[in-house]
Amino acid sequence: MPSADFNILITEPIPEKAITHLKKFGKLTIADKGTYNTPESLIDDIPDYDALLCMLSTPVNEEVLKAGKRLKIVANFAVGYDNIDIKTARTLDIHVANTPDVLTEACGDFAMGLLLAVSRKFKQAEAYLRNGNFKGWEPLGFLGMELRGRTLGIIGMGRIGQAFAHRARAFGMNIAYHNRNRVTENIENDLQATYFDDHRVLAEQCDVLSLNCPLTPKTHHLLNSKLLNTLPSHAIVINISRGAVIDEEALAEALHNNIIAGAGLDVFENEPEVHPRLLTAPNCLILPHIASATHKTREAIGMLAVEAISSVLSGTPSSQITNLITQ
Ligand code: GLV
Repeated sequence: MPSADFNILITEPIPEKAITHLKKFGKLTIADKGTYNTPESLIDDIPDYDALLCMLSTPVNEEVLKAGKRLKIVANFAVGYDNIDIKTARTLDIHVANTPDVLTEACGDFAMGLLLAVSRKFKQAEAYLRNGNFKGWEPLGFLGMELRGRTLGIIGMGRIGQAFAHRARAFGMNIAYHNRNRVTENIENDLQATYFDDHRVLAEQCDVLSLNCPLTPKTHHLLNSKLLNTLPSHAIVINISRGAVIDEEALAEALHNNIIAGAGLDVFENEPEVHPRLLTAPNCLILPHIASATHKTREAIGMLAVEAISSVLSGTPSSQITNLITQ
């Protein structure tokens, strides 16, 4: 029987298995998509809830947290949690959970797919065919960049960065990386990865630059016009982290002016809006934030989020809940 005392808000429909599990721990309200995309809408309703299961598009700021007088936990249906004011949550003793590990492989596959699609011009070639322009095999049509022997530079060598690096190694690429902290020697050896303390020096070496770091004040607009100008003109940029890690105006300029050769983007600074100059940029493949979108992974994300909520509501010591944000 659900505890009559706990009210749980889920800001939009999630996989059924997770909902079934969570029903055992309280009364669920499942909102329609888009209901809680502003702090104002949440501030009105959050006082009624003990737990919030929200999306990366749900802005859980200081005002929302302060209005959540009964709130014990915010579980993000995502690994990234830049939408949540962690500092305020900590001062108010509200736990915050994310969903590490379970989406690593899906995201690694996706990053590799994005790179292959951009380097071999899938999007333009398909449009060419669909528009009736394919009149037979062409020796000079849609020539792209071969990956073997090229260098993939990764900024942010966490789980997802490493998953991408593993796949790129299988394609014969060399790995260079920059990270807040250097990864262990074992990981470096396994990936044959070279560490660069300075991301500008890293960029000079890259044929492909991938952003895999969290969005923080330090990484905001990290890929700016200065860094873009450091890349070779045949370089491709891949971003499956957060849109605001890139200065999109600068990236659009670089693509329009052939400063770099292409970009594969799954994330945008002002989602769901996409910078208009990126929409028209040549060789820019843009996708609607779907890197973790596999049946298996989205179900696992849901289960991890609801397990954190059920554990907190049933009084499990926080030291035993592995996906609470502690730093
Ligand atoms: C998706 O972007 C996530 O952070 O899980």
